[in-house]
Amino acid sequence: MFEPLTNLTEVLPALLLLVMASAGYRTGQLIFRPTWGKLRSSARWCLALLSVAALAIIAELAAVGVLWSFAWAFAQNRVIVALPLILAPAAAAAVLAVPRLWRIAWAKMADPKTPVDAEGRALALDPRLVVPVQALAVGALLGFYTVFIARPIPPYTGIVATLDTLLIVASALLWFRQQRRRRVLLRAETLRRPSLGVRMLKVVSVLAALALIGGASFVYAARSSRLPDRLSMMSHDNIDLGGGPAPMPGMAMDHAGAAHATISVADLTGDTAGAPDATFTLTAEQQPIRLSSGAAIDAWTFNGQLPGPELRVRQGDLVEVTLVNKDIAEGVTIHWHGLDVPNAEDGVAGLTQNAVHPGQTYTYRFRVVNQPGSYWYHSHQLSSEQVKRGLFGPLLILPKTDTSQTQDITVMAHTWQTPSGPVPAFGIADTLQRQAVAPGTPVRLRLVNTDNNTVTDTEPRTFTLSGTPFQVAAIDGTDLSGPTNLDNVRLPLAAGGRYDITFAMPDHVVQLSDLGNLTAGLLLSPDGSGAAVSVPADGPLFDPAVYGTPAPTPFDRSSHFDREFTLILDDGPRFYDGQLFPRPTINGQVFPHTPMLVVRRGDLVKMTFINRSHNDHPMHLHGHHALVLSRNGQPIVGSPWWTDTLEIKPGEIFEVGFRADNPGIWMDHCHNLDHAAAGMTMHLAYEGVTTPYLVGHASGNQPE
Ligand code: C2O
Ligand code: CU
Repeated sequence: MFEPLTNLTEVLPALLLLVMASAGYRTGQLIFRPTWGKLRSSARWCLALLSVAALAIIAELAAVGVLWSFAWAFAQNRVIVALPLILAPAAAAAVLAVPRLWRIAWAKMADPKTPVDAEGRALALDPRLVVPVQALAVGALLGFYTVFIARPIPPYTGIVATLDTLLIVASALLWFRQQRRRRVLLRAETLRRPSLGVRMLKVVSVLAALALIGGASFVYAARSSRLPDRLSMMSHDNIDLGGGPAPMPGMAMDHAGAAHATISVADLTGDTAGAPDATFTLTAEQQPIRLSSGAAIDAWTFNGQLPGPELRVRQGDLVEVTLVNKDIAEGVTIHWHGLDVPNAEDGVAGLTQNAVHPGQTYTYRFRVVNQPGSYWYHSHQLSSEQVKRGLFGPLLILPKTDTSQTQDITVMAHTWQTPSGPVPAFGIADTLQRQAVAPGTPVRLRLVNTDNNTVTDTEPRTFTLSGTPFQVAAIDGTDLSGPTNLDNVRLPLAAGGRYDITFAMPDHVVQLSDLGNLTAGLLLSPDGSGAAVSVPADGPLFDPAVYGTPAPTPFDRSSHFDREFTLILDDGPRFYDGQLFPRPTINGQVFPHTPMLVVRRGDLVKMTFINRSHNDHPMHLHGHHALVLSRNGQPIVGSPWWTDTLEIKPGEIFEVGFRADNPGIWMDHCHNLDHAAAGMTMHLAYEGVTTPYLVGHASGNQPE
C-alpha cells in the first residue's frame, strides 16, 4: 500500500508538469489565433488541459493525505515544500485565468471566420489570463524537482525559501514579459505569428539553456563527489550530536571532522592477555567451486571452502584468528558481524585496520565475553564484491552450559553468481540436500542470510520450515524470551541477519526451504532419505514485534536518552565517487556527507529510522546491539527484540536504543551491500577517538 502510494505522489507532479508545460505554451500563443473560431477552440483546449491539471492536483492532495495517515514524516516533503509551490499558482489560475479563458471559450459569434477584434486581442494578451497558467507550469517544475530529485529533509527553511523565491521571481518576470508583449502586440498593425522555424528556435534555445545548466551542475556534482586519494572516515562534513553536548574541550572536532583526540582505534584492543583458547587460520584464496547442481563459480574463499570454515568457540574464550591473504589482489579483512568486539578487532578496512594484501597476514584477538549465539564473519574490504564471491563463514559462540545434546546445523543462505545468472542456495547446495537426524534430537538450525541484496526491492529472503512446529529461539544472536511454537509461517530474514530455529526432531521429514528457490532446500529425516515436501508459500509472516513474552530490559522506550538521532532513508539521484546512483541516501546524502553520529561513552542513545524510500534497508550497526523500542509508533509487545541488522521496509519507522558502551568508531550501514557501495554508510563515533587509517583511491582501503 505504501509503495504504490509514494509512487503516485511522485508520478502526479510529473504528469502535472507535462500538462502545464503544454497549457503554459498554448495560453501564450492565443494571441496569434487569427479568427474568433480558432481563438475559441484554442481557449477550450487550454481549459481542458487545466481541468486535467486540476484533477492531478486533487489526486495529489488525496494521495498525500493518505500518506500522511501513515505518518507525518512521509507527507511533510509534499505538504511543506512541494504542494505550496503548486497550490499558490493553481489558486491564481483558478481565480484569474480560468474566468477569462471561459469568456473566450464560450464567446458568442455570428461567424467563426470573423477576425479577432481589439477586444479579443486584449483578452488574449491579458497577463491575468496568461501568467498564472505559466506560473503554475513553473510551480509544477519546482514541485517535480522537490519530489524526484531534492527529496529534502527537515528543517525545510532553506529549500522552501529558495524554491518559493524562484517561483516568485519567475512569476514576476513572466508578468513583465507579458506586459511588454501586450504593449507591443496591441499596437501592431498586423499580427503575424512568428514562423514555425522561429518558434522552434525559441523552444530549442530554452531547452538548450536548461540542458546546459543541468549538464554543468551534473558534471560539477559528479566531479566534486569523487572521493579524494586519501580521506579519513571521520571527515564527514555533517556532524550530528543528537542533541547531546559537543565534544569536550581538548577533544574538539575541527572543520574537517578530525578529532583532536586522545585515543586511536588501534589502541582499543580490549584485554587480550593470556594464551588463546581457540586459534584459527583463515586463508583468503581464489578457488573455482561447483555448486551441488554442478554450476561453476569463480569463488573467493577462506581455506578453499564455501562458505568458510565454521568457527565454533565457547563463551569466555580468548579467540585468535590469523588471516592470510594468498591471492586476493585488492586485499581482504575480516569483520565479525554481530559480535561486539573491541574496536581495533572490528576488521573494517580504512577504519580499524589496513586491508591485508596478498602475501600479508593479520591477527585478530578478542575475548568473547557474553554473547553466546549465531554470528558470521566476512571480509570488509570491497565487501559488496568479496562477500558476494564467498569471503564469509559462520561464527558460533556456544554458551558456557553444555549443549552437546543439541544438533547444531548452520545454514548460510547465499545467492551465487553463476554463468547462467544468480542462484540462491543453502551454502553451496542449490539442490535439495538430505541429512539424517535421530527422532527426538533437539535441533538448532542457525539460519544466516549472507545475501548482498533483497530478493525484490521490498522483500528480503524468506524461508519456511515444514513438517514440525518450531520456535524462533534467537534473533541476531540474542535468545528471545518465551518463544512459542510456530507452524507454517514464513520467515523473512534481513540480509546479514540471523534466526536460530529450534525444534525436537520428529519421526518424519522436516524441510527448510527458501521461497526464492524451491529446488534448493534442506531435508532432515530419521534415515536421511525421504521425498521433498510441497512447500506452502502462503503462511503468515513471522513478526518479531509480537512474538514471545516481555521480559525486563536495561532501558525502554520511556527511558531518558542522552542522544537522539533521526535517520531518514530515502532515494534520490546522487553522485557517489563520481558515479550517479539513482537510489539510497541517508538524510538526503551519501558518504562522506552522511551524518557522523557522535556519542560520549556511557550515553543512552536512541536512533529513529524513517524509511521513505522504495527499498528495504537492513541497517547494521557495528559494535553494539540495539533494542527495538517501537515500530511505526507501536511498542514491541513480544519478547525484548535485540538486533544488529534490522530490516526496515518502505513506510516503516523504527526506534531503537542502545548503550554506548564500546568506545571506537563504528560503521553503521545498509547491509544490502550494494547500497553500502553506493554510499549508504555512516559512522558512530565516540568523542575522543580517532583513526590513523584512511580510505580513498590511493589508500588501498575500500570498506564497501
Ligand atoms: Cu556485515 Cu559492516 O558488515
Ligand atoms: Cu539499503
